[in-house]
Amino acid sequence: MKIKKAVFPVAGLGTRFLPATKAMAKEMLPVVDKPLIQYAVEEAFDAGIEQIIFVTGRGKKALEDHFDRCFEVELTLQNKGKKELLKQIQELVPKTGTIVYTRQNEPLGLGHAIWCARDIVGDEPFAVLLADDLIQTDKPVLTEMVKKFDRFRASIAAVMEVDNDQTDKYGILDAVKLENNIFQINDMVEKPVPAEAPSNLAIIGRYILTPSIFQHLGKKEKGAGGEIQLTDAMKALLKEQPIFGYKFEGTRFDCGDKAGFQMANLAFALERPDMREKLIHFIREIQQNF
Ligand code: UTP
Repeated sequence: MKIKKAVFPVAGLGTRFLPATKAMAKEMLPVVDKPLIQYAVEEAFDAGIEQIIFVTGRGKKALEDHFDRCFEVELTLQNKGKKELLKQIQELVPKTGTIVYTRQNEPLGLGHAIWCARDIVGDEPFAVLLADDLIQTDKPVLTEMVKKFDRFRASIAAVMEVDNDQTDKYGILDAVKLENNIFQINDMVEKPVPAEAPSNLAIIGRYILTPSIFQHLGKKEKGAGGEIQLTDAMKALLKEQPIFGYKFEGTRFDCGDKAGFQMANLAFALERPDMREKLIHFIREIQQNF
């Protein structure tokens, strides 16, 4: 079975980014010149995804408009002869009918946001991408995970090693290594204090899930932070089906965090030939004051 649908939960309050996120979803914040959500949507299409499902809350309008045509902008670019920019703007609009929106009326947690997409996903395995996890890599993470799914036919979460004192920020795995970058998960714990963490392998925002997850999410049990957690539902799913961890290659930036977001901007801008030299010059200059 092919992974055709991807769910993008974009209904979080983004309180760590206030006031920027007061009227706008944090996934619309730009890294260099593209909103976070666009990086994630491009990653999904590159992995062969055919339908994008946004679970929105506030800030829905900006997000909808971003993936829609904008005739005034297109006409202006055309009149000014800015062909390359015009092409970029037109290409980012997915084919009509490939985007579906649903609403999470209350931000009850990531697990609840995914559950809100249950009827649109239906009875097939699907991907979940959290746009605030931005990954700089030569091996796009979802594409690799789809390949792993074709092999294992089971749920998979992207994982990375974190510093031991950071375990209380993530879902942490108790797992055995099967091969180079694949782990079979025995158990998982949401945000354990370092002394109680079973490892330093943390789940980050890329998943492929079997539809059975919806039965567990539907129980709406509250977990860490009083939220309906995806990790808790995956933990319950583990009792019925295997789940694997895929340790991806590349650097992940936590763009839901202010420092992580600035680092992402710098790292992605340094990859751009039109900015690289200027930035290196600036970094060298300010470094003298550190
Ligand atoms: P976070 O845990 O980063 O929460 O959500 P948040 O509310 O967005 O941000 P802070 O912590 O208040 O700053 C991880 C992902 O899950 C989505 C978010 O939009 C983000 O993509 N999410 C979270 C929802 O869609 N609904 C929720 O109820 C919670």
